[in-house]
Amino acid sequence: MMHRIDAEALAYSYTSGQRVLDDVSTHVATGEVTGIIGPNGAGKSTLLQLLCGLLSPESGNVLLNKSPLEQYTDRERARLVAYMPQSVSPAFSLTVREVVALGRFPHLGPFGSLGTPDHEIVQDCLGQTETSHLATRDFLSLSGGERQRVLLASVLAQEPQLLLLDEPTSSLDLPHEAAFFRQLRTLSGRGLGIVVVTHDINMAAQFCDRLVLLGKDHRLVNQGGPSEVLQADILTDAYGSPLLVGEHPQTGGPFVTAPVGGI
Ligand SMILES: Nc1ncnc2c1ncn2[C@@H]1O[C@H](COP(=O)(O)OP(=O)(O)OP(=O)(O)O)[C@@H](O)[C@H]1O
Ligand SMILES: [Mg+2]
Repeated sequence: MMHRIDAEALAYSYTSGQRVLDDVSTHVATGEVTGIIGPNGAGKSTLLQLLCGLLSPESGNVLLNKSPLEQYTDRERARLVAYMPQSVSPAFSLTVREVVALGRFPHLGPFGSLGTPDHEIVQDCLGQTETSHLATRDFLSLSGGERQRVLLASVLAQEPQLLLLDEPTSSLDLPHEAAFFRQLRTLSGRGLGIVVVTHDINMAAQFCDRLVLLGKDHRLVNQGGPSEVLQADILTDAYGSPLLVGEHPQTGGPFVTAPVGGI
């Protein structure tokens, strides 16, 4: 079965009168990797939180499988949509295995204890993210990149249909970042829907099916395939600063960089 989220004309303000997202309509679906890009403060994290129901729009609608998001219970929603925030600082100390096990919450029975299948899923997700060797470590003792891989394991353990990730590779080295994006493609190949906010436009260009570009004015500038969206004039407009588009050395697809010394 296909699952999708439709956002219709979303607007949001944290402080009354100051829109941080204005008139944004888009959709995400299972089987696709959607990248959300745009400058700092454009509203990318806000959009992601609206898509998963952590925030409610000031105006506009978010539909999950054609029904308003607010009609779902938290548990129903969490079985369909998982969200990995931009940064996490747990209030108390948890081991890596405990952090990953938190992902099983929406699937547990009334007493909230993990059964054998849950433990197996946790183990499997540790394996998939190459974090098994960290299982007994305190989450807070991990490096930034290790934390990001553990958080991915945790949202995978939730076994959602749609996975919303906010800058999941911001602390990863280049080879780990490429491996992470390849893994996202594998997951989408298995039918999962992935939504990934990233500042790495070139990874997004290579690995995303669709890009959603938010501009510095908090509006949608463009959305579509990477070669459609990643054009110098469109990007320069969205970021309010010149950007250059060339060719990726391996794929020949768009390759984006900022000019040296400004223009
Ligand atoms: N909790 C909050 N209270 C008040 N303003 C907020 C809050 N969270 C975000 N904002 C503001 O809303 C705007 C959009 O923030 P958001 O985090 O969605 O941007 P972003 O596109 O994810 O940026 P970045 O690339 O830096 O992560 C910013 O101007 C930010 O300062
Ligand atoms: Mg953000």
